[in-house]
Amino acid sequence: MNARILLVIVSCALSIVTGLVIARGGGAAVNVRQRPLIGLSMDTLKEERWQVDRDLFTAAVQAAGADVLVQSANSNDAVQLQNIESLITQKVDALVIIPHDGAAMAKAVNLAHQAGIPVLSYDRLITGCDLDLYLTFDNVKVGELQAQFLADRLPSNGKLRLIRIYGSKTDNNAKLFKQGQDNILNPLIAAGKVEVIFEDWADDWKPENAKKITNAAITKNGPNFDAILASNDGTAGGAIQALTEEGIAGKIIVTGQDADLAACQRIAQGKQAMTVYKPIQSIANKAAELALDLARRKPIVARDAVNNGQTDVPSVLLDIVAVTKENLRETVVKDGFRKEAEVFQ
Ligand code: BGC
Repeated sequence: MNARILLVIVSCALSIVTGLVIARGGGAAVNVRQRPLIGLSMDTLKEERWQVDRDLFTAAVQAAGADVLVQSANSNDAVQLQNIESLITQKVDALVIIPHDGAAMAKAVNLAHQAGIPVLSYDRLITGCDLDLYLTFDNVKVGELQAQFLADRLPSNGKLRLIRIYGSKTDNNAKLFKQGQDNILNPLIAAGKVEVIFEDWADDWKPENAKKITNAAITKNGPNFDAILASNDGTAGGAIQALTEEGIAGKIIVTGQDADLAACQRIAQGKQAMTVYKPIQSIANKAAELALDLARRKPIVARDAVNNGQTDVPSVLLDIVAVTKENLRETVVKDGFRKEAEVFQ
């Protein structure tokens, strides 16, 4: 029996007894460099948050005495696969992947495993493979916080008329955000308190696609609606551009996620109502620690497990916070994520 299979069995037995699971990548006997090399394969660097993820992750790995090779795929699955093949050829000791398409990157995980390299899925889940470890925020809760914000602001008379903008269909997170939103909204829709007047998925999470969706909703229904449930700050930005052109920015409730600087500024100005702060420092530091444990083949015990369609992946879920104009200072500013002077220009 090889070490990998043994670990899976130990992991399953442990999880039955204690609810804990052990990452599959740990434990195999290999020679690891004294200064491990970690490969980071990213979907994109276009959105602000991913640049922060890259910089904080790299800094944390280097501070722990290891090196990082970073590749970004510009939202292209073929390029991301090539990037990962190149990292495998360069003999990284562990791979950290932020997939553009969670299903398409199963192939990359299989290739890494053939080369004996364990894989950590970062923020977004890779589905349909024997993934070693998954580190993310509580994505269902992100959607719940966004929708709860609206549920707390229902009009006293009549329904809340709502446009819903989901994220990229290729991103498993986008489905989880929607699931969390549905948890809160479906009962309100059934009770006639919320009416979804338009909904669509923004391909590749692009702001320009969110703007097009908002324009299409206005063309169909006119500017007669109360809120836009945008799934992140990028799409919120695109939607708010359309609202600005229509002269109704600030009058419509718009949600978001990521606490991007531009979104925090819009919140301070009253153009966006809320965002969800996901502390990037926490995920980057934790990812660095876990990637190094995988690289050194140390066993990793995770409290949670997320099924990826093939297996229960040992998972670490980090907590999040809803941010509004009222608590911008006590959350993102206090945490050092944003500077007060930049937010409140
Ligand atoms: C991330 C969000 C991000 C979105 C677009 C999601 O998977 O969880 O933080 O805004 O991708 O990049």
